[in-house]
Amino acid sequence: MLLLSVLAKKKENKVPVWLMRQAGRYLPEYRKLRLESKSFLDLVFSPKKAAEITLQPIKRFDFDAAILFSDILVIPLALGQQVSFEQGLNLSPIDVKNIRVDPKAISQKLAPIAQTVQETRKELAKDKALIGFAGGPFTVALYMLQGTSKKGFDAALSFAYTQTKSFEKLLDVLTEATTYYLLDQIKAGVNAVQLFETWAALVPWHKQKEWLLKPLQTMIYAIRKKHPDFPVITYLKGVGKFVPYYASRSQTTAVSLDSSYPLELLDDLDCVVQGNLDPQVLLHGGVFMEQSVFSIKDVLKGRPFIFNLGHGILKETPLEHVEQLMKLLRNEE
Ligand code: CP3
Repeated sequence: MLLLSVLAKKKENKVPVWLMRQAGRYLPEYRKLRLESKSFLDLVFSPKKAAEITLQPIKRFDFDAAILFSDILVIPLALGQQVSFEQGLNLSPIDVKNIRVDPKAISQKLAPIAQTVQETRKELAKDKALIGFAGGPFTVALYMLQGTSKKGFDAALSFAYTQTKSFEKLLDVLTEATTYYLLDQIKAGVNAVQLFETWAALVPWHKQKEWLLKPLQTMIYAIRKKHPDFPVITYLKGVGKFVPYYASRSQTTAVSLDSSYPLELLDDLDCVVQGNLDPQVLLHGGVFMEQSVFSIKDVLKGRPFIFNLGHGILKETPLEHVEQLMKLLRNEE
């Protein structure tokens, strides 16, 4: 598997490529299944359909890795919070003091997702990797406390600053629940996992250790205890020059860089890198995209590197631009 080989820092002539949010609303075949289904979560919890959606972008674009079709907000669901995506994102209020982790309940509630992993791995070509994932505890905590994604995270952050003990307890609960969930995905057959700490930039610097680093370290340590050397990719959006700080202390295999990260700074970084084409650039395509792809490849020449976007693909992205991207990446080799 090309992706695993690069994650193991082996020299390869080809650059593996996959795109964050590659299974989703920019694909007509996804929109069709989505219209036929009751809800987004109904798709996520139907292993046959979720496996089909996971495979859709591979069939169309021949990416080197599939990412499990699910969502970071299945952890709040497994902890008993109600989550709905139908009229925009909505989560029911939670009582942080009474949240407990029951490992059996987590595994049971999320068993259909482990089944999706098995179904997908059966169908996926042997040379393609299947990536599992989960949200970072800080990011998931923000959604749990805010209850929606429409108005920023003021209420959630206010909770974090005024009821810090309870907030940190919630992070502990999420760290533990997420670890069980990731171990279940690994047991079911994923070849690597990615942690999405999308709102990392909202953490004030004096809390970076407690709110971001510690949960990451704890999860990665627990995974490696059972599966030494298991590849973990970490996405901390917007942390800029702190990326090397997290990379070296968390034991992550790779970092997924957002589009604002200047690749010239990579000399400070010792791990595998993934990224970082701007989703807006892919949306617009053309010569600008061509130049961006070449400059990324040029700066990263000679280092273990996975081509990806700096954030999720936008749903208006024309399919032809993804085809053009794949041509640019593959023709050169
Ligand atoms: O990458 C993939 O293709 C795999 C699937 C995947 C989804 N979400 C499917 C999805 C992954 C990896 C995610 C991660 C995710 N989910 C993140 C972290 C990465 C990032 O993009 O920042 C976050 C923050 C979420 C939370 C989330 N899920 C939001 C805010 C929304 C939109 C809610 C709204 O207001 O509509 C989702 C929904 C979601 N997750 C969709 C998909 C395909 C769209 C659902 C639909 O079809 O209506």
